[in-house]
Amino acid sequence: MDKHSLISISDLSKDEILALLKRAQEFEKNPNQRILAGKVVASLFFEPSTRTRLSFETAVNRLGGRVIGFSDPKSSSQAKGESLKDTIMMVSNYADLIVMRHYLEGAARYANEIASVPIINAGDGSNQHPTQTMLDLYTIYQTQGTLENLTITMVGDLKYGRTVHSLLEAMHHFHPRFKFVACDELRMPEQYKQYCKEWGIDYEETRDFSPEIINQTDILYMTRVQRERFSDLMEYERVKNVYTLTASMLTGCKPNMRVLHPLPRVTEIAQDVDDTPQAYYFEQALNGLYARQALICRALDL
Ligand code: CP
Repeated sequence: MDKHSLISISDLSKDEILALLKRAQEFEKNPNQRILAGKVVASLFFEPSTRTRLSFETAVNRLGGRVIGFSDPKSSSQAKGESLKDTIMMVSNYADLIVMRHYLEGAARYANEIASVPIINAGDGSNQHPTQTMLDLYTIYQTQGTLENLTITMVGDLKYGRTVHSLLEAMHHFHPRFKFVACDELRMPEQYKQYCKEWGIDYEETRDFSPEIINQTDILYMTRVQRERFSDLMEYERVKNVYTLTASMLTGCKPNMRVLHPLPRVTEIAQDVDDTPQAYYFEQALNGLYARQALICRALDL
């Protein structure tokens, strides 16, 4: 890739990931710097977002740059029928970098073919969410002191969950063991299980969110069942409340186990988990600021 775009987490080598985590650590110590003075970053969100959009925009503001864009495509000329191609060509004229979330898988890669400036994929359908993965890796390192040889249990919507797909791919550098907990309708897709096989990664699939699973886990990665990904809403109703983590389920867990969630949550983590030492999802979301500052600087070669 000629530009420093980030479309998939696989665009980054292990060394690049480690360098970005180091840079994020520097931003955690000092998030307010003037590195982006004179730069304009476009934030194009074709799908709703709280954390990704606001942490990207905060990242730019804290680094002294300017943000343009939209959080609702209905306020853009897409509502008049303008194509994604034309939108990206136009915004390339105005901004030095485009951060884009889109509901279609592959939209970010397509935009990258058209844009004259780098693209950062802020989530494309159920495909990839590589900037979430960078903050997840940062958080895993922060809580475990290592990325190596960890047992990561992924729970919930493993079929449509772009965050688990990106995280699985990134972790292949670090010898993980995975436990996939999902109902039949939302199992991890075959292509990701094949990926694990190709990289010699040990994984186990189960429907049972049992104490044994939780007690073997270093990182418990909960996910939301995403209503917006279902074409059959009856199916969504059947599976939406299958797994709920409660505080009492954590009584036998490893002392250093941490519960992560990309957020937003709905019913999959009960409020009483928030008060346990294992809850780390709000800190995880804060880390998005530092990880995204590092990624913006990479994209702009700064
Ligand atoms: N984790 C995440 O992508 O959250 P938002 O949808 O709020 O951006």
